Amino acid sequence: MANDVFGLDIGRSFIKVVEVKVSGKKKILSAAANAPTPAGGIQTDAPMEMKKVSEAIKAVVRSSGVKGNKCNVSIVESQVVTRLIQMPNLTDKELSSAINWEADQYIPLPLKDVNLQYQVVSKPALGKSGMMDVLLVAAPKRIVEKYVKLVRDSDLNLSAMETESSSLARALTTPSDLPAVIVSLGAASCELVLVKGGNVLFTRSVSTGGYALTRAVMAEFNMGQVQAEQYKHTYGVLPDQLGGKVANVLKPLLEVVVLEILKALEYSRNHLQGTVFSRIIVCGGGAYLPGLSEYLTTRTSLEVSLGDPWLNFEKEGVILKIPGQGSFYSVATGLAQRV
Ligand SMILES: Nc1ncnc2c1ncn2[C@@H]1O[C@H](COP(=O)(O)OP(=O)(O)OP(=O)(O)O)[C@@H](O)[C@H]1O
Ligand SMILES: [Mg+2]
Repeated sequence: MANDVFGLDIGRSFIKVVEVKVSGKKKILSAAANAPTPAGGIQTDAPMEMKKVSEAIKAVVRSSGVKGNKCNVSIVESQVVTRLIQMPNLTDKELSSAINWEADQYIPLPLKDVNLQYQVVSKPALGKSGMMDVLLVAAPKRIVEKYVKLVRDSDLNLSAMETESSSLARALTTPSDLPAVIVSLGAASCELVLVKGGNVLFTRSVSTGGYALTRAVMAEFNMGQVQAEQYKHTYGVLPDQLGGKVANVLKPLLEVVVLEILKALEYSRNHLQGTVFSRIIVCGGGAYLPGLSEYLTTRTSLEVSLGDPWLNFEKEGVILKIPGQGSFYSVATGLAQRV
């Protein structure tokens, strides 16, 4: 059966579309396509610019060959507030009436201006006392409305909207996996997501992305953007390439990400009842930076792997045409698998 809803990830450098067909236990990648995001992307407020983005979405959806026009969309993580809170062990009904009052203490925005969602992450076993963990997700209504309009202007029907962290957790982990730190390196930012048992426990958005890395190379070697991108893609942070000159330019920027990973691990030790995070999954376009995994391993002492949301997919059709690109499509694949 084809999932009749496809995933649409409106990244700040690339728009991605993914459709997944599920047949029994088999998952088949039935469509995947991408196109550059017109300048500004979702960041812009100018109607003319937004029109360019919706035209680009229409074109990539058309070229992808997806069947329907219903889509799930992700909200850029830096615009969303996500907090894990502890509450007394309540019934669903009690929780739904208590949550707004509780959320007010944790969400740094007026509740009337946000769409608030919550999810019980863990509860004490039946008959046991203790607190339960609840994940709060607050998205500003202004941002939500922008996505709703963009999807409508792209002649699509919006099925659901969720944070990038939820899409990534679904795409790259299963409930039985060991806890993991997902590091998603996009163009404008880097998202850190702590995931345990398939649940998001913590998120952090760092404003170091692929753009910043390219700009640093442009400035250091006095070259244009296209050539700087090539340098970045070819030499990355490999110490033995070009005498380590490119690596030395990129490392100080990646250190910002490393420090945030270390802080997230510190948070997990203090607030997540000693959950041990022993592995990092890198994804997003920036995850292909040569030498990145080795660099993060050295700096964090965790095991690092490249995330592949298509790992357990059938090796047939579309997937054979774009080998190794799963990481780039992680958010869109997670969205396509939302049920
Ligand atoms: N081989 C590579 N080495 C290094 N960087 C790469 C490579 N391939 C792609 N990138 C970088 O990945 C970035 C694009 O990744 P991606 O499509 O995940 O970002 P995005 O989703 O559009 O951005 P954001 O998530 O910040 O909105 C670009 O900055 C690009 O330079
Ligand atoms: Mg992205």
